[in-house]
Amino acid sequence: MSNAVSYKDLGLVNSRALFHNAVDGGYAIPAYNFNNLEQLQAIVVACAETDSPVIIQVSKGARDYANETMLRYMAMGAVQMAKELGKDLPIVLHLDHGDSFELCQSCIDSGFSSVMIDGSHLPYEENVALTRRVVEYAHQRDVAVEGELGVLAGIEDDVVAEQSTYTKPEEVEDFVKKTGVDSLAISIGTSHGAYKFKLAPGESVPPLRFDILDEIEKRIPGFPIVLHGASSVVPAYVALINQYGGKMDGAVGVPEDQLRQAAKSAVCKINIDSDGRLAVTAKVREFLAHNPAEFDPRKYLGAARSELIALIKHKNQAVLGSAGKA
Ligand code: G3H
Ligand code: 13P
Ligand code: ZN
Repeated sequence: MSNAVSYKDLGLVNSRALFHNAVDGGYAIPAYNFNNLEQLQAIVVACAETDSPVIIQVSKGARDYANETMLRYMAMGAVQMAKELGKDLPIVLHLDHGDSFELCQSCIDSGFSSVMIDGSHLPYEENVALTRRVVEYAHQRDVAVEGELGVLAGIEDDVVAEQSTYTKPEEVEDFVKKTGVDSLAISIGTSHGAYKFKLAPGESVPPLRFDILDEIEKRIPGFPIVLHGASSVVPAYVALINQYGGKMDGAVGVPEDQLRQAAKSAVCKINIDSDGRLAVTAKVREFLAHNPAEFDPRKYLGAARSELIALIKHKNQAVLGSAGKA
């Protein structure tokens, strides 16, 4: 007997309708990574208060950290918590950077409504074959699949890419047709983590390659595009971390106006993890520096959670444009 659980029984939705509405409406659905209770509570509260659809996403590392079964029940809890806050929010539970068919299968069987199969580091035909295999399994269960073409610099779980390789627009049509993916992650100059650009003194962040995005849109009009590595590396958090004993010199991210521009195009999913990590670290450091005798984790994690709520509301309202679209 199969122990598989369908996401539909958990109150979750897949991302297809959300992406369609986002492409038509000129906004992007936020995809926030979570690993623990406070992060997920903050996502639910902020998205309920801003009436935003949301993708809650889990990396392989998060799955190892928090346990797959625990994550499934947390996602169920997120749906129920939103209802108690008076909002029937569309919530997608997504596997971020799946690296094998078996991992995607396991997540689908444990209640994920969307998976990413990241074959971007593989030779093209191998990426196509692996992605196609995941799509066949997922679509039989009405689960959506994100594929990737082009490599982002930075760290994705255990994989470190020194150099980014931009997506080749001439490959996207063939890839989408051969694999049947529901959305496509592309590489146009973003990267993972808190050090996205190496800037000389006085130099400013280079613009994303909107020319490549335009070319991709021309070849697959209206097709849902995903932007990874989209944290802004909020300077105020970096400053707080450095002020209270941290060491994050040279941390820099994607300016908000560029993300806003991307969200208005066919980019309909924007992935944000590092900004949340920075918010939590900044607030915990600040709180403990001011309250050296405090040892109740609810106090410092509570302060971090409040900041995360403010950050996510800001992203939904001012950057992604997803507020009011639930
Ligand atoms: O793309 C990477 C995400 O930020 C997840 O990071 O693998 O350390 O959980 P992680
Ligand atoms: P950041 O590191 O910019 O937050 O990117 C997160 C991401 O792409 C998760 O898949
Ligand atoms: Zn990513």
